Amino acid sequence: MSDLERDFSHWASIVEEVKKAGVYGYSAISQKSSGTRIILDGRELLLFANNDYLGLMDHPAVIEKAIKALKDFGSSTCSSQITLSTSIHQQLESELASFVGAEDAVLYPSCYMCNIGTITSITQKGDVIISDKNDHASIIDGVRLSEARVRFFKHNDMSHLEKILGKCGGYGKRIVIVDGVYSMEGDLAPLPELCELCEKYDAILIVDDAHGAGVMGENGVGTAEWFGVNDRIDVKIGTLSKALVSIGGFTAGGKNLITCLRHSSRTCVFSTVIPPSSAAASLAALEIVRTQPERRKRLWENVVYYRTGLGRLGYNTLGSVTAIVPVLLGSRDITLRIAILLRERGIFTVPIVPPAIKDEQSRLRTNVMATHTKDEIDQALEAFAIVGRECGII
Ligand SMILES: Cc1ncc(COP(=O)(O)O)c(C=O)c1O
Repeated sequence: MSDLERDFSHWASIVEEVKKAGVYGYSAISQKSSGTRIILDGRELLLFANNDYLGLMDHPAVIEKAIKALKDFGSSTCSSQITLSTSIHQQLESELASFVGAEDAVLYPSCYMCNIGTITSITQKGDVIISDKNDHASIIDGVRLSEARVRFFKHNDMSHLEKILGKCGGYGKRIVIVDGVYSMEGDLAPLPELCELCEKYDAILIVDDAHGAGVMGENGVGTAEWFGVNDRIDVKIGTLSKALVSIGGFTAGGKNLITCLRHSSRTCVFSTVIPPSSAAASLAALEIVRTQPERRKRLWENVVYYRTGLGRLGYNTLGSVTAIVPVLLGSRDITLRIAILLRERGIFTVPIVPPAIKDEQSRLRTNVMATHTKDEIDQALEAFAIVGRECGII
């Protein structure tokens, strides 16, 4: 065995051990999916674990537009956007900008790359970035790569943030960056208070609303619309991989900033633009987000029904107020066990365990969709009731 292989051999042992214990939950391989259901190992399971909040992944208009783009442009542009893009990409950027109420928007290959590229381009030596401790990994990585100084404030703790801002007057730019919806907790950043503090201390506010776009607010514009502060956010970051059902990320903001990102942001300039078919799928999804508000209404009814049901059973959903409904279970072993037992009962959820999170914070991350029927939610709640009692946790 090479030294390199030896260095990483403990990973194989850990995986083997977890597999032997029958609680291996990493990356299920689906053979087919349709609506709220997937086929895993030949069995149909109910999906309570994906980010297709409005149920658009297999909507006929989405599929039709993606197929047309495939036929018109092929499977990829095989080039970075700075060399070659398509009319579909251009239309998507323009529609995203107008949807979130910004002057312009630029696409990135993913929201992960968008955070890295945007944060490193906006900041320079002499600036300070102030980040919520629970910000998404891609924000943390962007912050790490930036030349600016970094400070973290306790999750959603506005007095801690103010204390830090009060000491940052000497920096060139002060940049506060938060998630709109926190993807492990399902809670929201307190955007009105964040806007006030950023205005008071002359700081720039960046919001990554990966889980809010399409879902939050009367028109689905996002968490800022939900709070009525959409015009007070300086830079809006979003993903195409959740409610907009394809792949890619985008940054929206003022014309000059977006021109800078489009021409110099490394993860945009030095990486291939998303496939035309993905851009077309998101354009179609965006049209549905705009024109079918009843999907959001249905989603929120489902969220409340599901979350209340879990609470009634005695599960801790960590104060979630969104379609991300975590179920805190408190240790890796019990979380993996419950995930497997739920799967045996036909319910697919995502276990979040170390090293992604501290052991005592282990949880199932579950998601509700607009297209879940009441019967499907009842089926999930019944499975949670049975396995919870079987494991003695409720
Ligand atoms: C807040 C947040 N930002 C960024 C990302 C990365 O998104 P993408 O899949 O587009 O890279 C995620 C994905 O889960 C997220 O939750």
